[in-house]
Amino acid sequence: MTQKHYTQAPLPFQGQKRRWGKEFRQALQAFPQCTTVVDLFGGSGLLSRMAKDAMPHARVIYNDFDGYTRRIAALPRTNALLERIRPVVAPVPENKRLPAGLRDRVLELVRQEEREAGYVDYVTLSASLLFSMKYANNLAELERETLYNSLRQSPYEATGYLDGLEVVHEDYRALFARWRHRPDALFLVDPPYLSTDTHTYTGYWRLRDYLDVLHTLHGTNYIYFTSDKSQLVELCGWLEANHPVANPFRGAVRLERGTNVNYASRYTDIMLYKPLLNTD
Ligand SMILES: C[S@@+](CC[C@H](N)C(=O)[O-])C[C@H]1O[C@@H](n2cnc3c(N)ncnc32)[C@H](O)[C@@H]1O
Repeated sequence: MTQKHYTQAPLPFQGQKRRWGKEFRQALQAFPQCTTVVDLFGGSGLLSRMAKDAMPHARVIYNDFDGYTRRIAALPRTNALLERIRPVVAPVPENKRLPAGLRDRVLELVRQEEREAGYVDYVTLSASLLFSMKYANNLAELERETLYNSLRQSPYEATGYLDGLEVVHEDYRALFARWRHRPDALFLVDPPYLSTDTHTYTGYWRLRDYLDVLHTLHGTNYIYFTSDKSQLVELCGWLEANHPVANPFRGAVRLERGTNVNYASRYTDIMLYKPLLNTD
């Protein structure tokens, strides 16, 4: 049996860590003593998937806070809906706007699906029908948007994606509380970024929420993701230099990647990791 090796999430998800695959797998090797991986901010579950593939004997706990696994369960229906939409948008060239008549017909198919199934994966629909990076979370939001023909040709596929993962759905603090004292636990800490890309995420994050996350990095094995936009790493360095506080990033390995959002916007993605024994 050949197992599919996922390097990106099977359904669209903003903020998935697909560009970090190689470095992430290398970082995992710094934690040979860890037998459980706890993905506190699981999102699409991609880090959990990659961790399980790299460490098949470890327990991997994927915290699905956004209902991504529900989207995966609905995937056959989502594919079927896209299959019905495809002939409607076919007369429109790729990435071009749908005229009013076709737009109405597409929206009617979505309404019908919502009536029949009681659930529609609006994030995946958004990736198929909205301008790049735009997302609608429900029918009302979709109805307000200009629609485009951005459907991809092949159906979505998620065979085996959740195999071997333990899925939970809870606030990261509750999950962390259960595992925090375990020296054999490795925490994956990829919180929503400060003021970026938070539209499709559940809830709203303020500065103190980002600071609270730092509690998960004190005296634990961790791999933490951030970007230079949040400047939390700099803040911790400043506090350490100017006040008698412990900096959770002291001694951590730091890797960076440049990211272009569009021609006008550029930032640096950062991954930091530190095994528990390396406390100096
Ligand atoms: C940057 S994304 C994680 C992306 C993920 N690593 C991936 O590769 O797909 C941050 C996630 O944290 C979730 N989140 C927000 N508040 C949370 C909370 N209180 N507890 C757990 N997860 C939360 C967001 O909904 C979002 O899915």
